[in-house]
Amino acid sequence: MEKIIVKTSHVLGFANQAEIDAIAPDVMAAREHLLRGDAAGSDFLGWVDLPEQLDGEMLSRLKADAARIAAKSSLLVVVGIGGSYLGARMVIEALQSEFAAFRRNGTHPYVVYAGHTLGEDYYAQLLDLLDNEDYSVCVISKSGTTTEPAVAFRIIKAHLEKKYGRDEASQRIVAITDARRGALHDIAAQEGYPMYVIPDNVGGRFSVLTPVGLLPIAAAGFDIDRLIQGAHDMRRVCLDKNSLAENPALMYAAVRNVLYRKGTKVEMLVGCQLNLRYLAEWWKQLYGESEGKDGRGLLPHSITITTDLHSMGQYVQQGERLMMETMLRVAKPAQHVPVPTDERNLDGINYLTSKSLTEINDCAADGTIAAHVEGGVPVLQIEVPRIDEYTIGQLIYFFEFACGVSGYTLGVNPFDQPGVEFYKKNMFHLLGKPGF
Ligand code: PA5
Repeated sequence: MEKIIVKTSHVLGFANQAEIDAIAPDVMAAREHLLRGDAAGSDFLGWVDLPEQLDGEMLSRLKADAARIAAKSSLLVVVGIGGSYLGARMVIEALQSEFAAFRRNGTHPYVVYAGHTLGEDYYAQLLDLLDNEDYSVCVISKSGTTTEPAVAFRIIKAHLEKKYGRDEASQRIVAITDARRGALHDIAAQEGYPMYVIPDNVGGRFSVLTPVGLLPIAAAGFDIDRLIQGAHDMRRVCLDKNSLAENPALMYAAVRNVLYRKGTKVEMLVGCQLNLRYLAEWWKQLYGESEGKDGRGLLPHSITITTDLHSMGQYVQQGERLMMETMLRVAKPAQHVPVPTDERNLDGINYLTSKSLTEINDCAADGTIAAHVEGGVPVLQIEVPRIDEYTIGQLIYFFEFACGVSGYTLGVNPFDQPGVEFYKKNMFHLLGKPGF
């Protein structure tokens, strides 16, 4: 197994080894609670064994539905919000070409998203696009009652039925929801849509390895078996290795909690490639919803280097000292692009031509680490060998496991999200929903 490595060398000036060793018993106790299922939120631990327990028959059916959708669609509309779309989106955006929208290969649909916004212009533009595309829809809601995807689905379903007729529309919709309850479950049952279940014991932000993530990812043409294998192999490390030194998820949980206890307020996930932007969005939900409660928790934020060094770099270097960085480094790019030599060297960059772009980016990352550490920002590094289905599967499990351990170390229930309900009550009241 190619490893995910957590490097603490640029943290030790801020949290020394003795402090990391001192928190280890709390982290190990948190891990035991997670594995024994004897702490708050234990009804939502289904994700822990998910890579082992995915039903083979369900996966075969899912792959067949994904292939059927792919064969008849140039676009797939994924309708969902929060944990019901971010997992699929982070995997697809990490693996597809940045320019996939312009270079569609005809074999797999390009994925667009809905239900994650109520912006009216967005839907007007989407419907405009759908007028001229062969498309299918994957509608995802665990509760089956979330307003944003419900409104989006109603709009898109009406468009789909008008375009193809009701029978063909029902062949182009797949629903992923609760096994028994919710409006989406009832619609899917009555309309005869293929349906997949989100297990009761898997919360939205931990659901990427259920049909919630797997169906859109498979339909977009990516290898879900490799994704699951990566998660499976990382699960073994997380479950079998009992020390911080051997278990990267425990080390990550330990370092962020030591720094939090010492006054750090913000954790910036720093991606070194643009295609990891949605990984950061998924991570923000995972850690923000899991830890941000009871007046506690690191605020998850993200930047991409070197892009955001030209916007946020100033603040990170010299603004208020409240943050740590977790830099996600990728050892090898998928492809190479040489920097050409130019005899006239008018731009003065011939000195770079012996280096690959990755080497240049690595120097930027190393230079950034040195600068930020000097500016008072601890930088934890997480290194993956490359970005593909297998390593993303590893990262998913790594971040999920570390999140559960970290939340229990922090002293919160990492598996609920009571605060998300507050805005909904106000919104329903303002909209005049019966009972509000
Ligand atoms: O993590 C969570 O539970 C939430 O972010 C949900 O995923 C999000 O609110 C969407 O909920 P649902 O899938 O019920 O529509």
